Amino acid sequence: MKNTPPSIIALDGPAASGKSTVGRRLADSLGFLFFDTGIMYRAVTWIALEHDMNLHDETAITELAQNAQIDIRQPTQNDGRACDVVIGGKDVTWDMRSGNVDANVSVVSAYAGVRKALSEQQRRIGMRGRVVMVGRDIGTVVLPEADLKLYMDASAEERARRRYKEIVDRGEAADYDEILKKMIERDRLDSTRAVAPLRPADDAVILDTDTMNEEQVYTHILEMCK
Ligand code: CDP
Repeated sequence: MKNTPPSIIALDGPAASGKSTVGRRLADSLGFLFFDTGIMYRAVTWIALEHDMNLHDETAITELAQNAQIDIRQPTQNDGRACDVVIGGKDVTWDMRSGNVDANVSVVSAYAGVRKALSEQQRRIGMRGRVVMVGRDIGTVVLPEADLKLYMDASAEERARRRYKEIVDRGEAADYDEILKKMIERDRLDSTRAVAPLRPADDAVILDTDTMNEEQVYTHILEMCK
């Protein structure tokens, strides 16, 4: 690692590994842009479901990813969101996190054309620097030149507990066993796809957060940034 503080930080890991929470805090304290790339894959999936598109029609879904108008704006509500996600004038910030999107996003994100369209945008923004970018393939594909690469992991049970709590805290109903089962399946699809599978970059620092709370992970990463 260089002696200067990192300007491009790549933060990858499986579902609900705590990337977004820690990434957001880190970006705030460094005065960097926080960019959650999962939003883009979720948004394309949400639009496809909303329009009853056939998710197995790779050509149509790829065209959608190339043309989708996804707006990310400053948060207008204090309900735990990092930003407002607006599509066609509709606030879809939480709709994008529904079980239906969770269950289908990995089909959409496995398409090479979808990944190309979205990761080119991500790379263009990330290369400006002063950014914490969160996803699955940031350290391996989107920004392989990142100054600091982190890979956050935790057991599926611990991650499912965290996701369960997030949903319940939002006032929605949740079923732990169902969350666990679907999360394991999504991780399986994300890590076995042919293009840009979920995996740590060879030079990533791996953080096993099973035994670390959010504060400990955050402090540890902040130390690495200095
Ligand atoms: O919040 P959570 O960790 O559950 O998921 P997310 O980060 O919002 O990502 C949702 C889905 O988008 C993942 O399961 C992947 O299929 C896809 N994704 C991806 O393929 N590459 C990325 N860089 C980010 C997300």
